[in-house]
Amino acid sequence: MKLLGLLMASTLLTAPAGLAAAAGTDSGVVAAATSQADRPWMNTALSPDERARLAVEAMTLDEQISLMRTQIGFGLLSLGIPLPDSVPETMRKHTPEGALGSAGFIPAVPRLGLPAIQMTDASLGVGNLGGFLRRGDEATALPSSLALAGSFNTDLARQAGRVVGAEAHAKGFNVQLAGGVNLTREPRNGRNFEYAGEDPLLAGLIIGETIAGIQDQHVVSTSKHYALNSQETGRFVYDARIDEGALRESDLLAFEIAHDRGQPGAVMCAYNRINGVYGCESPFLLNQVLKSEWKYPGWVMSDWGAVHSLTPALDAGLDQESPQDDPHFSTLKAEVEAGRVPASRVAESARRILRSLFAVGAVDSPAAPGGAIDKDAHAAVAEQIALQGMVLLKNEGGVLPLAATAKKIVVIGGFADRGVIAGGGGSSQVMPYGGSFRDTRGREGVAALLTPVYGLDSPLKALQARRPDADIQFDDGSDPARAAALARTADVAIVFATRPEEEGLDAENLLFDHGQDDLIAAVAAANPRTVAVLETGNPTAMPWLSRTAAVLQAWYPGQRGGQAIARLLTGDASPSGRLPMTFPASVQQLPRPEIPGFDPSMRTPLGLGKPVEPFNLDINEGSDVGYRWFERTDAKPMFAFGYGLTYTTFDYRRPSFRGGDGLTAEVTLTNTGSRPGVEVAQLYAAPPGRTHRLVGWARVELQPGESRRVTLSADPRLLASWDAEAKGWRRAGGRFDAYIGRSAEQVEGRAQVRIGATADVPRALVGGR
Ligand code: BGC
Repeated sequence: MKLLGLLMASTLLTAPAGLAAAAGTDSGVVAAATSQADRPWMNTALSPDERARLAVEAMTLDEQISLMRTQIGFGLLSLGIPLPDSVPETMRKHTPEGALGSAGFIPAVPRLGLPAIQMTDASLGVGNLGGFLRRGDEATALPSSLALAGSFNTDLARQAGRVVGAEAHAKGFNVQLAGGVNLTREPRNGRNFEYAGEDPLLAGLIIGETIAGIQDQHVVSTSKHYALNSQETGRFVYDARIDEGALRESDLLAFEIAHDRGQPGAVMCAYNRINGVYGCESPFLLNQVLKSEWKYPGWVMSDWGAVHSLTPALDAGLDQESPQDDPHFSTLKAEVEAGRVPASRVAESARRILRSLFAVGAVDSPAAPGGAIDKDAHAAVAEQIALQGMVLLKNEGGVLPLAATAKKIVVIGGFADRGVIAGGGGSSQVMPYGGSFRDTRGREGVAALLTPVYGLDSPLKALQARRPDADIQFDDGSDPARAAALARTADVAIVFATRPEEEGLDAENLLFDHGQDDLIAAVAAANPRTVAVLETGNPTAMPWLSRTAAVLQAWYPGQRGGQAIARLLTGDASPSGRLPMTFPASVQQLPRPEIPGFDPSMRTPLGLGKPVEPFNLDINEGSDVGYRWFERTDAKPMFAFGYGLTYTTFDYRRPSFRGGDGLTAEVTLTNTGSRPGVEVAQLYAAPPGRTHRLVGWARVELQPGESRRVTLSADPRLLASWDAEAKGWRRAGGRFDAYIGRSAEQVEGRAQVRIGATADVPRALVGGR
């Protein structure tokens, strides 16, 4: 039974008021009381490998096996409310002793001084699904990973990771189920907001930095979901069919780069199959690529309920079953005692788990609940991500930033009077500091609690505070005609539209629900100076685009999203985000115009409503993901990957390119406008006969009139391709087509560059912490 399934078994339950708090129980953190001579693994002068080896030698078989079986870290009985009869006996459990109320828990081994393993979800902050896993436990809600990727700012990604890691540590968690790096192959995928877009270099670097930031704080981070969990529809059953080379050059490359940067202590294998084999049973993915080729020293944990066997999984390289209520690892001890599974195989998994804990300092600086959290500093990081990640898609007639002469402003819809979407629904859900509310239309009971949470940072109020001289009125948008009539009287109309996404569900199309597209169209028809602010976890269709003056893509902007939106609209800050995924003009342009396996009647919370028959997901685009697919099919998107406007203008002059044993380019950027601004200059290159790839970028801040010559260096991994015959990476020699662009399709300088062939391609120094 999956964690989310466990929750959904209580769909009939009503609101969680009065739930017993699971938090506050003994964390299981054990102080090292004995001398180092008794516990040589506590000697910090030794390497993590040596410490893990020594600790595992001292463990009994039972203790080693206990590390390989995660328990669910909360129990329905501890929620303190009557459970309906439909909840089976096996699920009527209390929160395990020592657990904090989260996705995963493994008890401490006090006699050896080893702490409990406390795992929580963490894509956008320390998760607390539905707000009832730990009643009242809030955390900093960061904007969605798409916003972070949209910043193209790896330093900011490191800071984001540190926020999550520091809060996890202060709440008693030492493993974060973070690091989602699945590439966007399906712009209707309900979980794209947890990932970092469609490009392996961008996604790999951004997510790698967040992993490193989390682990800086003595907390292990995962990377997930390894691999090709690119849609939620049928995630437990589909078989992603793809050529090895295409896989190596796309999703695996994103993982490889993320590992190189972040060295995660754990990897979470995916639910789905890849070329006929479940992700958690794949010798190719686990033993061959991850552990052997990448020399990954950490452990592989299953996604929750993703294990289908004991021996094939162990033989493939799986180290830990999550959660242990799924029974496959329950016979492990008997199998070892019968000699069918070597004891050394168990010791290896235990060693990998402990190694990662030692490597990040989770044993020496143990996490414990009740630690101090610098909420203001963390909120400032959340605000920066929102500011730098939002993308200005359109701005005509100088409508933005709002002119001082705009004295009457009408704000419409999207709950803008109350707050902004803090994150999507599902296991990543964070309960934001400062309180929250939900849009529960169409949902009841626990299902309603799984919908996205809005934080209480109202953009309307933030705007009113920044423009006290203006008359700013609000209409909730429930009646488009009324809203349009009000908009007609205003200097500027700002319409907010929100589109919830959640784990387990893909969207049927790219439209807004609750008539919001009609609302925007009606307002724009009434007032040509209409600005649309879109809080979404995916691209949308924007059928009204030509009639609006401006569009700000705000993603899920996190707990300071209201402030950030107001600062960008008023020009207190300038937009600098770029799209981390292509916005298609229509779903007909996608590799799969219809989502394989999709059935609208499956649109029940978490997608658990209806069993799905296994089906093939043919990855016909191969490694030509996103903008590369658009190039291959010569299709014109609505907005290209890498695209975004700001309030100033930039000139690109004297582009130059140098090949040889690599690729570098230079260009002089000049801020030709009257405001400071950030330009993200992008370098794309196509090996002979292949589509172009993003190989590097420079994010440059320039004052008005300022010029700078910037150097763009290609990551050598991106110049190579997988050679299926030689079964290795090769850089084909010859003429590469290279261009510097403002986006994947706005070319500012282009050249044919001769680059030498080599089989000596620097690969990721994956290693591990
Ligand atoms: C999700 C994982 C998550 C796990 C534990 C699964 O359903 O796919 O991303 O970490 O649950 O909550």
